[in-house]
Amino acid sequence: MQIIDGKKVASEIKLEISEKVQQIVAMGGRRPNLSAILVGHDGGSESYMMMKTRACEECGFESALIRMEPDVTQAELIAKIDELNKDESVDGFIIQLPLPKHIDEQAVIEAIDYRKDADGFHPINVGRMALGLPCFKPATPSGVMLLLERYGIATSGKHCVILGRSNIVGKPLANMLIQKAYPGNCTVTVCHSATPNIKELTLQADILISALGCPGFVTEDMVKEGAVVIDVGTTRVPDSTRERGWRLCGDVDYKNVSPHCSYITPVPGGVGPVTTVALMLNTLLAATNGHRE
Ligand code: GUN
Repeated sequence: MQIIDGKKVASEIKLEISEKVQQIVAMGGRRPNLSAILVGHDGGSESYMMMKTRACEECGFESALIRMEPDVTQAELIAKIDELNKDESVDGFIIQLPLPKHIDEQAVIEAIDYRKDADGFHPINVGRMALGLPCFKPATPSGVMLLLERYGIATSGKHCVILGRSNIVGKPLANMLIQKAYPGNCTVTVCHSATPNIKELTLQADILISALGCPGFVTEDMVKEGAVVIDVGTTRVPDSTRERGWRLCGDVDYKNVSPHCSYITPVPGGVGPVTTVALMLNTLLAATNGHRE
């Protein structure tokens, strides 16, 4: 069993990106710029933003964080998005989700110029991805693909079972893994809340990817011997032994499942770190126009 070290992969890729940025700057170009809008003061969103800002620094990017109060109107938020759409010094930007309930998230996503949509959430990017065309791809599924690639895990012809059908992870991951490419070329099954025979399906998985947000959902009896197990779950569970009062918990019962795997991602330190790196790769792509080639 090999543990997939997401931190190590993330460090390697950030170094590669920073070298490319140095080349761009040496040739008279400017540093890629990723901006972000953060609405409100949600603890999880604040810590994600901190990680993204730090990753920008490590890659040699410019970054800006635009804060808006939780009572901001949808019109005010969209006006700010319009500004970023038009600002030529901004290569890409993101709106940290979730947004307050009074704001229509889809309307906000669709207000982003798809050529600056570093999160890959705009319907044009989603559609282009489904067609296998150059585009921005969402960070979390891209992170999973980076791990499969960097560990040289065989994917062609493999049965990949995905747990969860969210727009951010399950659906785009299924789309990526069926493409005729590496990583990809898989037979993909997507399980969700209405799937009656989940265990029967997971036991057929050569590659099992869980993105449910249900701590400990994937147990030993659900995993085929030698399977590759990727855990996208990151749920904060109360933990009084930690100073901050919580710890991150994956979807997989790591202790009991890992002895049966060929590869497995831990939580934390698996998919999480490469997710941020995937956003950095999108920003580099935006700055070099690679998303429209
Ligand atoms: N909230 C949770 N994941 C994400 C993400 O990938 N992008 C944004 N913008 N918000 C998120």
